[in-house]
This record gives sequence, structure tokens and C-alpha cells, in this order.
Amino acid sequence: MTEEKSKEGLENVVVAESAISTIDGLKGELRYRGYSISELAQQSDFTEVAWLLWTGELPTHAEYEELDRKLKSARALPPELSFLVQGLASRTEPMAALRTIVSAMSASDSSPANDAKSAFAAAIRMTALLPTAIAAYARARAGKSMVDPDSELDHAANFLFMLRGERPQQKEGQILDSCLVLHAEHGFNASTFSARVTASTLSDIYSAVTSAVGTLKGPLHGGANTAVMQMLLEIGSKDKVEAYLDTAFREKRRIMGFGHRVYKVDDPRGTILKEHCHELAQMKDETLWAELSDAVASALKKRKDLILNVDFYSAATYYYLGIEPDCYTCIFAIARMPGWTAHVLEQYANNRLIRPRSKAVGPGPRAFVARDDRG
Ligand code: COA
Repeated sequence: MTEEKSKEGLENVVVAESAISTIDGLKGELRYRGYSISELAQQSDFTEVAWLLWTGELPTHAEYEELDRKLKSARALPPELSFLVQGLASRTEPMAALRTIVSAMSASDSSPANDAKSAFAAAIRMTALLPTAIAAYARARAGKSMVDPDSELDHAANFLFMLRGERPQQKEGQILDSCLVLHAEHGFNASTFSARVTASTLSDIYSAVTSAVGTLKGPLHGGANTAVMQMLLEIGSKDKVEAYLDTAFREKRRIMGFGHRVYKVDDPRGTILKEHCHELAQMKDETLWAELSDAVASALKKRKDLILNVDFYSAATYYYLGIEPDCYTCIFAIARMPGWTAHVLEQYANNRLIRPRSKAVGPGPRAFVARDDRG
């Protein structure tokens, strides 16, 4: 028998075939179903991209209208979810609340939600409900009442409306929509992989997405955007960047928003987010956070060859949009819902149980010792 070798963190291990996206980490390219991320971020919108990820093709006019109608009509929280959100808001941090809310979304769905038809319907439903749940949570913990969805607004603008209680400027809605497009899908990242593992047992799509949310929560994955903003707030001004990095390097801390398992050059999404961040800085006439982000990025490049990832400029961008830093990972979840669920649908369509092995490095066979004889 050949010697078994483990691959720590599954780095570069190909575990399945997927037609949903392609990433070229050496060139810094990302495509959803063949379309470049920069074209999609500039010319498409989140609803269209969700359809593309789920079905493999850009929607026709009729398909777009139909999906838009379905998403808008599924936005309102059912009473049990509204009740749950209120209960969680005062005592649970945002991503833990979100994990519980996603799990509870299955309560009002009596379908099996693990076959092509019912899982697709559940994917649309979860995509529509998530922004309402997050906005309701954020308002409840601030002691404010929930704002009903506005069917005249698209996905991103409606989220900002439900969060703030007033309609956002058109440009703010467009920028958030583009952020959602940029975060919608990214191959076999950790949260998507965990969704596929759950789906591969033929468990339902709500369970698969609950696994994904729990995985996204960690600071090495989706939690990094919140950590970036905490870092920017802690640094506070450009003249303190070098001192902050000195301490971080001395204490061997990771600088959030940098480094990536797949990209060897800057993440293409990060470049577009940098533009959004600066655009909002000009609009809001508050350039500190954009300039501070630039200063950290250039100071870090001089010290260590680390690429800039998607989370770095998302942080200041969301800050300018008035979103509270501890909710940034929830925005990632709103965006990633079509990606997660497209992968779950792909898994169901050609399923084989995902069940890898580990290399045994524990003790060899030994005789059991009764508790009384163990000393
Ligand atoms: N800051 C400082 N050093 C970093 C770093 C960071 N953000 N990311 C990686 N490194 C260093 C590691 O310390 C390690 O150095 P060493 O070889 O001297 O020990 C080396 O780069 C490789 O790191 P490793 O953890 O093996 O790479 P990975 O592929 O497993 O990690 C990430 C990828 C994303 C987990 C990692 O880059 C990271 O922790 N980044 C910060 C969190 C973040 O922004 N996550 C969002 C990803 S989209």
C-alpha cells in the first residue's frame, strides 16, 4: 500500500467539478459562468447575477421580471421569524443571530427542500428574506421598529431603506448592488464547501445554508471585513499606520483583508471595491477612511508580499454606507446566498456523498483498562 499523505487545509486539492465560476489566481481573474466579474459588477445587477448563478445563463427580459417579482413578493418576514429576530437582537451577535434565523426559515416551508424544484424555490425565498431579517435585527437592537420592504426598490437599495428607514441615494444603492455582485460567488471557498458537504447527505437546502453561515462567520473567512474596520478605527489616522503595523508584526498578528489561498496577485474584486470606497468618500465628503485604507495597503506592501483581498476595501465602503461594522459579515451572507444555493443545486443534480478520510496518527491498538485500575 502506498504511503498516505494528508494535505493540510486541502490546499490545491480538487474535490469536485463545478460549472459555476472560474478563478485564475495567477492572473487575478474571476468569472461567473464565463462572464468576467468586472463586466458583471459594472453592467449587470444582483438579481440578474443570481439567475445566472442558479441557471447558468443570463435571464431573458421575461425571466428577469419573473425573478424580480418572486424576490420582491417573498421579502416580508413571516410572524415567527419577526418574533425570533426581536428575541435575538438584544442578546446575540449578528452572525450567530443570522445562523439561527436561516435555520428557522425552514419552519414555514413544508416542502422537502432537497430536490431541484423545491430547493430552487427555497433559494429564492432565502435570498429575498435575508436582507429583511438583517435590517430588522439591526433596527431591533438599536430599539427601532422594523421597516416594511419597499417593492419599488431593488434588492440592495431596499436593504438600505429597511436598515435606515429612509430611501438611500441612488448611487448608494448602485454601489451596494455592485458589492453584492462582487461577493456573490467564489468557487469552493470554505463556506460553500461546507454547504456542499451538508447537501451531499441529501439534507435540505436550509441546513446546507445554515452550515455555510456558520463557516462564513470565522475571522479567516467572512469575518475579516469586520476585523478590517476594527483595525481602521483603532489606527484612526494616517500618521499612526506604521506604528500599528510595527506592533502587529512584532506580535505576529495577521493583517485582516490581506492574503488569499487562491490569488497570487491582487483580488480583482478588491480593485473594484477600492473604486467604490473612494467614490463614496467623495460623495460623503469624508475621505479619512478611504485614505487610511490606501495608507495601510501601501505600508503593508512595503513590508510583506501579501495580496489585497475582497474584504479590505469592503470595510470602509460599508462604513460609508452607514452599516455597523459588526454587521459586515451579514452583508457578505446576503451577497453569497445565490452562490451557496447554486452550489447546493449543483450538488443535488449530481450527488455523491462527500466523505473524505484522514491519515491516522493517533495511538495504535491497545487494551482497555477498567476505570478502577487506572490509578
Ligand atoms: N497578515 C500577515 N501575514 C499573513 C497574512 C496576513 N493577512 N496572511 C498570510 N500571512 C502569512 C502567514 O503568517 C504565513 O507566513 P509564514 O509562512 O511566515 O508562517 C504565510 O503568509 C502563509 O499563510 P497561510 O495561513 O499558510 O496561508 P493560507 O493560504 O492558509 O491563508 C488566509 C489564507 C486568507 C487565511 C490568510 O491569508 C489570512 O489569514 N488572511 C487574513 C484574513 C482574511 O483577510 N481573510 C479573508 C480571506 S478572503
